Amino acid sequence: MSNLISLGSDNHSGVHPFILQSIHDCNEGHTPSYGTDPLTIKAKSVFKNHFGPKAQAFFVFNGTAANVLALKSLVKSYQAIICAEDSHLNIDECGAPENQIGCKLIKLPSPDGKIKPIDIEKSMIRQGDQHYSQVAAVSITQPTELGTMYSLQELNDIKTVCKKHKLKLHIDGARFIYAPYYLKCSFETLCQDVDALSFGGTKNGLLFGEAVILFNKNADFKYLRKQSMQLPSKMRFLANQFIHLFSPLSKNEPSTLEPLYLTIAKNSHQLAKYLEEKLCNIEELSITQPVQANSVFVKIPQPWIKPLREKFFFYVWNEANFECRLMLSFDSTKKHIEDFIDHLNNVKSHHPLGDC
Ligand SMILES: Cc1ncc(COP(=O)(O)O)c(C=O)c1O
Repeated sequence: MSNLISLGSDNHSGVHPFILQSIHDCNEGHTPSYGTDPLTIKAKSVFKNHFGPKAQAFFVFNGTAANVLALKSLVKSYQAIICAEDSHLNIDECGAPENQIGCKLIKLPSPDGKIKPIDIEKSMIRQGDQHYSQVAAVSITQPTELGTMYSLQELNDIKTVCKKHKLKLHIDGARFIYAPYYLKCSFETLCQDVDALSFGGTKNGLLFGEAVILFNKNADFKYLRKQSMQLPSKMRFLANQFIHLFSPLSKNEPSTLEPLYLTIAKNSHQLAKYLEEKLCNIEELSITQPVQANSVFVKIPQPWIKPLREKFFFYVWNEANFECRLMLSFDSTKKHIEDFIDHLNNVKSHHPLGDC
């Protein structure tokens, strides 16, 4: 195992010990499979408790499948889905939505990761024209791929335009745990008038697993999931991880009664803000996006990137201007950030910019 500290992704960290324990805890005896076991039934009711009585949760293996299946349940192959240019759906799913759903993606500009209702309006053309893929759904990411958050007002504006044009609304919530924490509201409020949510587990401390949450009855979904090879047989292992994500770390300690997802969101967001604050003190750097979840986007002088990455891995998000993404995980600490800043200052002193 490498002891390199990564600021690359919340996919780079391991499994939260409480989640790992949940896997061990349900490893005794035999239970029915394919979601008919008591833990899966309990996990589904935990989702109803947090997302409202209409929420139906379906567990799948990964986030790309969650997005594709959620959307496949909402649109037909001859229809189109509006999404952000920078969305995972558009740029990081290797064409899975187009391949699996058969639909067209209409990409809207998203310099801060978000799409705007006015651009959705402008895309509502040629309705009823048999030559044109009919727009049927909007997919947004919350928080976005650029670490920004749609405000409640922005969300409501998107919902209003969707209602006006009878468009289904999907949220890619690979990191949705940050939304109720940052926006100070419930999951249920956030998901009002949403048709489907891909609720992430893996990036938030799980070993693997995501939940597709549907807010309207959909008799097809269970067949779509199976046909797409995303029906886990030993589903209890997935379900129990989610039960733990929504449980407090310790049942005996009143001070730690907050659910694990909130502890993770709070810690990673506060560390992202701490990192931002430290980076702001270095004049050669510039922060490019508001820090509203667990990542910091920062332009770093090109000569510093290679030596920096020798000790702390991170991604160059935009090769054209060396905008980099630094991302925190559930197990990130202040010490990691301070070590990174020390290393940054060290690299800076060895690579004066005037020399290149
Ligand atoms: C915003 C977003 N959505 C979806 C995914 C899908 O993840 P997976 O790699 O599990 O398919 C990711 C993963 O990076 C992501 O960042």
